[in-house]
Amino acid sequence: MKKIVFATNNAHKLEEVRAIVGDRFEIVPLAATGITEEIPETSDTLEGNALQKARYIYERTGLDCFADDTGLEVAALGGAPGVHSARYATDGHDHAANRALLLRNLEGVTDRSARFRTAIALIQEGAERLCEGEVRGTIATEERGEGGFGYDSLFIPEGHTTTFAEMSPELKNSMSHRGRAVEKLAEML
Ligand code: IMP
Repeated sequence: MKKIVFATNNAHKLEEVRAIVGDRFEIVPLAATGITEEIPETSDTLEGNALQKARYIYERTGLDCFADDTGLEVAALGGAPGVHSARYATDGHDHAANRALLLRNLEGVTDRSARFRTAIALIQEGAERLCEGEVRGTIATEERGEGGFGYDSLFIPEGHTTTFAEMSPELKNSMSHRGRAVEKLAEML
């Protein structure tokens, strides 16, 4: 089976991608390439960061690979936190602090529309391609639900009344930004 490197060591992401393209490709985690350092993500767009990560791997290994980058884009905040979603409140990945800051910045705001967007950059035999997936919804006025991670307990997808954190992982994945981006990746492969 053809191998392709996915620029992550996150078990959940690997599983999600393998469920969609695992019958056609052997999805290799980043750690298996010998790259142990954190790959720089210094672009100001999701697409730029995804490409930066994929190029980093391709330049060092010559292997076919893909990388993703995700952000939560809130309309009333001009698209913030966007590409800075992981480090919105602090320099570390403090999800609780990020959610608290988002709620503070939306105090008294009535337009709470937002979307999660995932960009994926693919490099195959040196050729670069991009795809994306998004899910639209609104930001709740308080946290709800115990599941998920990141901003899940604040995000209510369009057509639903529950947050991502109140849904089963299967239901969330069936409509999520990342799930949709991976479906498009599967079509490109
Ligand atoms: P990454 O590019 O997948 O590492 O995502 C960057 C940041 O976006 C994460 O640190 C989370 O704050 C947020 N994020 C990404 N995907 C999700 C999700 O499915 N639910 C909630 N937050 C997410």
